[in-house]
Amino acid sequence: MPHKKHIGEVMIPEERIEKRAKEIGEQITRDYEGESVHLIGVLKGAVMWMAEIMKHIDLDVTIDFLACSSYGSDTKTSGVVKINKDLDSSIAGKNVILVEDIIDSGVTLNYLKKYLMNRDPKSIKVCSLLDKPEGRKMEIEGDYVGFPVGDVFIIGYGLDFDQRYRQLPYISYLDR
Ligand code: IMP
Ligand code: MG
Repeated sequence: MPHKKHIGEVMIPEERIEKRAKEIGEQITRDYEGESVHLIGVLKGAVMWMAEIMKHIDLDVTIDFLACSSYGSDTKTSGVVKINKDLDSSIAGKNVILVEDIIDSGVTLNYLKKYLMNRDPKSIKVCSLLDKPEGRKMEIEGDYVGFPVGDVFIIGYGLDFDQRYRQLPYISYLDR
């Protein structure tokens, strides 16, 4: 199958991701007891993770999405963040949970957090499927993190290389 040529081994299988999403969803349910939460998924990488997490949040939940780009078709960060699709609704007074696919350099997250902070939410936390601590350039961490990963280029479960491989139901890496 030519479209599978560059897919490495399965690093994190679907069942482990689902189990972790359930744990985190239940943790969020406990942490925000009696409150509402507003999930903001960062397109497109966070779609699968967002869908999995929200199933397990037993609270008053609303969702929104935004899209930004910091990477071109290369695997290295350009350091520049651009908003390509803004929020549909106001976040003023809301408990925002920003849902990301991966925190690498932290440039994107740092920018998005400040961007959202300026819109007067009640609180902001970050829920990321993956964390690549070795790539960090800014001092920033996720509040709810699925899995730490090493310094490899990850694909699958929403994460792409040049817009491909997002549909893989597991976490893998790019095998060039
Ligand atoms: P950061 O700004 O360097 O933290 O990068 C954040 C964004 O870069 C993520 O939301 C991803 O879209 C992308 N990214 C970073 N590392 C990877 C990777 O290993 N695979 C795929 N996308 C990545
Ligand atoms: Mg990406």
